[in-house]
Amino acid sequence: MTYRPDPDRYDRMTYRRCGVSGLKLPAVSLGLWHNFGEDTPHETKRAICQTAFDHGITHFDLANNYGPPPGSAETAFGEILRTDFAGYRDELVISSKAGYHMWSGPYGEWGSRKNLIASCDQSLRRMGLDYVDIFYSHRFDPDTPLEETMGALDSIVRSGKALYVGISSYNSESTRKAAAILKELGTPCVIHQPSYNILNRWVEHDGLKDTLQDLGIGSIAFTPLAQGMLTKKYLGGIPEGSRATQGKSLAREKITDSAIKSIRKLNDIAEARGQTLAQMAIAWVLRGGGITTALIGASKPSQVVDCAGAVGNLEFSAEELAQIDAVSQEEDINLWARSSNGE
Ligand SMILES: NC(=O)c1ccc[n+]([C@@H]2O[C@H](COP(=O)([O-])OP(=O)(O)OC[C@H]3O[C@@H](n4cnc5c(N)ncnc54)[C@H](OP(=O)(O)O)[C@@H]3O)[C@@H](O)[C@H]2O)c1
Repeated sequence: MTYRPDPDRYDRMTYRRCGVSGLKLPAVSLGLWHNFGEDTPHETKRAICQTAFDHGITHFDLANNYGPPPGSAETAFGEILRTDFAGYRDELVISSKAGYHMWSGPYGEWGSRKNLIASCDQSLRRMGLDYVDIFYSHRFDPDTPLEETMGALDSIVRSGKALYVGISSYNSESTRKAAAILKELGTPCVIHQPSYNILNRWVEHDGLKDTLQDLGIGSIAFTPLAQGMLTKKYLGGIPEGSRATQGKSLAREKITDSAIKSIRKLNDIAEARGQTLAQMAIAWVLRGGGITTALIGASKPSQVVDCAGAVGNLEFSAEELAQIDAVSQEEDINLWARSSNGE
């Protein structure tokens, strides 16, 4: 059946300005890291994307290596762009990234000009696009001059292959340096993509969150649900089929008794607010306007509906925030710390 987007979709979502740029992003964005590879039926991918767009989620985040196998998420999304989303390109903000291992040999990863420009071309071919809206350096490269990596991003914009550029998992210090180089080149750094959630607050300790506000750079917080830990899912054990059973990025060992104890208390706070825990976790990331958008993932459409509903209550009282701090402790779940540590 031909997909027709819900005509009320833009009334359901809140849009927030990305830093000081002209670009507005939905408060909740959808990432295609998991559940968009060849191990997931295409109908599920279509249903997730359709539900997202029907709820006003206009921003879809990809990377060269999303799959499995790497590249297959972009290929699947390209198919959706050609079918369900045909005619809606100008209503969508599509991003991709390069930096993690993608192909063999010395040019298939990190931050060289050689890697970034070739990778962007490959991503465009897989998605069947002339340009992406945002192209990112996916991780900090300690061995390539920052001038080269930022110069490649600038070239990608100047050659019409991306409209905006961003960086991901760079710490506060390298963000300041990268932003200064990009400014000098005339291609501003519009967005930063860090991991951030109630159980992983490195952006606060590092000063990155303040730096981004200081520099007028927007932000998109990935893993706002701590890969699913900040939902009710694991409160009664580890359900079959959940991410923690898949042997991918969420190790079973991360679901510790002490984590569950604090997640249970967080769930009580969410219930008292009239929200699901997922909704409260998203609202928490967005609190005070410091983060532009929360970048979720989903394995089924109902999760997208639940997460999009976070915009129903983005406000917190000082007491609620204090309660959240009191019952939660940080967990060892930041898999991207090497990049922000400059390694
Ligand atoms: N820049 C980077 O280096 C980087 C790194 C990682 C991620 N990202 C981006 O961030 C995106 C999001 O990452 P993520 O998928 O880890 O984010 P997440 O939102 O923290 O976790 C998503 C997972 O949580 C579960 N979930 C989502 N909504 C739920 C709900 N309402 N109720 C119950 N469970 C729910 C699902 O897991 P189940 O499968 O168990 O159902 C889902 O796959 C990625 O797709 C990617 O675009 C970027």
